[in-house]
Amino acid sequence: MAFPFLKKNTAQEETGLPEILPKHVAFIMDGNGRWAKKRGMPRKFGHREGAKTFHDITRYCRSIGIQNASFYVFSTENWRRPEEEVDAIMNLLWEYLNDCDEYLEQEVRMIFIGDKSRLPERIRNRMLELEEDSKKYDKMNLILAINYGGRDEITQAARQLAEKAARGEIRPEEITEDTISQHLYTREIPDVDLMIRPSGELRLSNFLIWQCAYAEYYFTDVLWPDFARSELDKALRDFAGRGRRFGGV
Ligand code: IPE
Ligand code: IPE
Ligand code: MG
Repeated sequence: MAFPFLKKNTAQEETGLPEILPKHVAFIMDGNGRWAKKRGMPRKFGHREGAKTFHDITRYCRSIGIQNASFYVFSTENWRRPEEEVDAIMNLLWEYLNDCDEYLEQEVRMIFIGDKSRLPERIRNRMLELEEDSKKYDKMNLILAINYGGRDEITQAARQLAEKAARGEIRPEEITEDTISQHLYTREIPDVDLMIRPSGELRLSNFLIWQCAYAEYYFTDVLWPDFARSELDKALRDFAGRGRRFGGV
């Protein structure tokens, strides 16, 4: 039954989206290479097209009121790709980081998760700048995972806690699930409610492994460059029909 005091916003009315939306949606932007290959084009064209999809889906998330949207941009494992492809992705990233005014105008807070230290300096500095310039905004958190790995994230949290223990700042018995969460890159972000992976692969590929402990998963064969707003609508409707029990009955 609909509760009259739960007012939908206009975008929700137009699309007929469910009233209960996930607080945190995560996207594994996969399938760019195959999208390009199908068209006889080099893989980097797929990445360019995928970046357009990212832009569109981010705008859509903002307009329908998703509070936290995470996107897997580049994993700690993606350095294994040919240098030419890694360079093309970094150049594209640089272009995009210089084209974020719209998000700031829309009062979107940008948070970059992952190990920034291995990234080219100009990219790292731009990321820090955008984080600083947008930290006052609260309309939506846009979380971009760049040189991100879930195991890497947990490892650095363990290391920080061990250092604190060695300095006598924390006792081992004081370490709880909460303490660990507070040492992850996502410390200010709630756990993932809905994890979406296009491109037909049925795996997490090291994305937000701690934060997905109770996430709902949505897989589709659509390749990321073809992932339209209507695909997200489908995932959101599917999510609204799931029974989440968190171990209870
Ligand atoms: C995802 O698309 C983008 C990145 C990993 C940077 P892929 O490049 O993995 O595309 P496929 O999986 O080869 O089609
Ligand atoms: C996951 O896609 C990483 C990103 C989308 C950034 P991959 O294409 O790297 O994942 P695998 O290798 O198929 O697991
Ligand atoms: Mg892939």
